[in-house]
Amino acid sequence: MRLLLYRADGNTAPWVRDLTALMPALEVLAWDGGAVPACDYALVWGAPAELLVQLASVKALFLAGAGVDAVLKLGDALPEVPIVRLGDAGMGVQMAEYVVHAVLRYFRRFDDYESQARDGVWAPLPLADKSDFSVGVMGMGALGTPVLDALAHFGFPLRGWSRGARQRDGVACFAGTAGLGEFLAGTRVLVCMLPLTPATHHLLDRAMLEQLPRGAYLINVARGALVAEPDLLALIRSGHLAGATLDVFRNEPLPSPHPFWGEPRIAITPHISALTVRADSVRQIVHKISALERGEPIADVVDRTRGY
Ligand code: GLV
Repeated sequence: MRLLLYRADGNTAPWVRDLTALMPALEVLAWDGGAVPACDYALVWGAPAELLVQLASVKALFLAGAGVDAVLKLGDALPEVPIVRLGDAGMGVQMAEYVVHAVLRYFRRFDDYESQARDGVWAPLPLADKSDFSVGVMGMGALGTPVLDALAHFGFPLRGWSRGARQRDGVACFAGTAGLGEFLAGTRVLVCMLPLTPATHHLLDRAMLEQLPRGAYLINVARGALVAEPDLLALIRSGHLAGATLDVFRNEPLPSPHPFWGEPRIAITPHISALTVRADSVRQIVHKISALERGEPIADVVDRTRGY
């Protein structure tokens, strides 16, 4: 059985090693350009169109990440093979760490203390009222769920928004376009964890972000293009939004100069909120290949119509 491997970062050797260690029957071929040899499966991240269009005969195309927008962008040119994204694979806990850190930073005013410390100011600030510090998570899937669970430990009022209706204990749930206004109006910290699809592109524009209460925060750990960046900046500068923590951007790396770099109320990280954990991912992919070989169904198959 053959698996074709491609990683845009070129770091294929440890993946070849770990995949073959767990599944000795698998011959792993790292692709570095040119014609694609006949393969049963492919595992790619950051693959160029030139490679993807040649994968028409694989039994499944595995992606070594959670987001599938970059691959689906190819549209009809993408071969009609099952596309399988990573499930949690160690990302849920990282997302929870990142989001909890950002929420607590705002709630406990560490951003203000950092700025006070730079000026040599010793001044305790009043504690915010937790009942007034609701956290609303957009996207309640494999990664949104562990984030909500982690936030629940701290007692923040929790809200969740999803495309289709969902229920979750301890979370006020809203769904669809009809539920969006009410969800935003009661959310103090908006956590964006949505997949990027034609329907969510620039979903968080001025009209949406303005529905958050004055003094709200945005945390975006999903994709930059979900947010209309100039609208976000304008709302921060006008004081409607108190700040944002952004891990993802329309263009990555975030170019320099870019107005976000100079805005002290925007905290920037370089798309690290949930890194792919190789050991967990390899285990998950090998498990799915074994299931497919036995003719069993697997989780995390992308629905192309839905876009994730
Ligand atoms: C990272 O952004 C991923 O989609 O896994």
